[in-house]
Amino acid sequence: MISPQDIFPAIAPWVGSLDETFPGAQIKPYFAQWEVLHILSLALLGGASILLNLRLIGSGLTDESPAEVRRGVLPWLNIGVVGILVTGVLIGTSNPERLYTSEAFTAKMLGLAAALLLTYGAILPAAKTDGRLSRGAAVAATLGMALFGLSIGVFAIAKLVNPGLWHAIIAAALIVLFVTKGVSRIVYLIGLLALMATQLALHQVIFRPDDYARLDPANKIMILVYLAWILAAAAVQIVSAGRGQNGVGPAVKALAYAGILVWVVTAAAGRWIAFA
Ligand code: HEM
Repeated sequence: MISPQDIFPAIAPWVGSLDETFPGAQIKPYFAQWEVLHILSLALLGGASILLNLRLIGSGLTDESPAEVRRGVLPWLNIGVVGILVTGVLIGTSNPERLYTSEAFTAKMLGLAAALLLTYGAILPAAKTDGRLSRGAAVAATLGMALFGLSIGVFAIAKLVNPGLWHAIIAAALIVLFVTKGVSRIVYLIGLLALMATQLALHQVIFRPDDYARLDPANKIMILVYLAWILAAAAVQIVSAGRGQNGVGPAVKALAYAGILVWVVTAAAGRWIAFA
């Protein structure tokens, strides 16, 4: 078990009192309204992050340099991040036991730490210099990627929560589909469709739809095959596109993929708090 309760058992009485005191008690009757603001903040920060990272990958707003795109999206990104943190803490204090016992929340907080480190420590500084990675940014990138890996690891072993990782796989599949061009895009899409057809056959033809004993391991293998296919296509895109877009090198491009996906994983873990 890897919920906050398992990691910090001593704070249980404090957590239990949060929704009876300010601000949890005042927020509680308006939980839904505050959660809407939580999601609107996500839309804002997600949109800003996608625009900037796609530019570093070499897609989207290619008429502007990465530094220009950074300047344009930074205020929106900041508002989104502040908004999601403030509303998150407020709805958290009004329903604290749910978070305290949730393994998804552990994955989410690790994802959040990774997202902040990667975004503010590595990606924004790299975009400011049109794709060059300073030593400080490289350190932040390494730490951020380690935390991102840990977040995915916790997500993957959390029972009843781990199907939420499909959101990340689907997001990765769509990003790669969006940024690949020409023949590679067609080959990649055919591969994706073949994988989806295989999975449908596994569920409807090869095994009975309720034969979980066989379907569970089959789905775990499928997720690895999807991952290998998507990563291979992303690697081809990163290498073949070269340094064409204002000198953005392969390391920063790879970081930009992670820069979008780390927020997706954090958001997916946030959504799956409800399902545990
Ligand atoms: C201090 C940080 C945060 C805290 C304390 C927090 C807290 C919460 C809480 C209490 C919920 C409701 C869970 C439930 O009852 O089902 C929630 C839902 C959610 N959170 Fe956060 N959150 C934080 C940051 C974030 C971030 C950074 C993201 C996205 C990247 C995010 C995305 C979501 C999503 C997608 C939901 C599901 C909303 C829904 O089901 O309608 N949260 N969060």
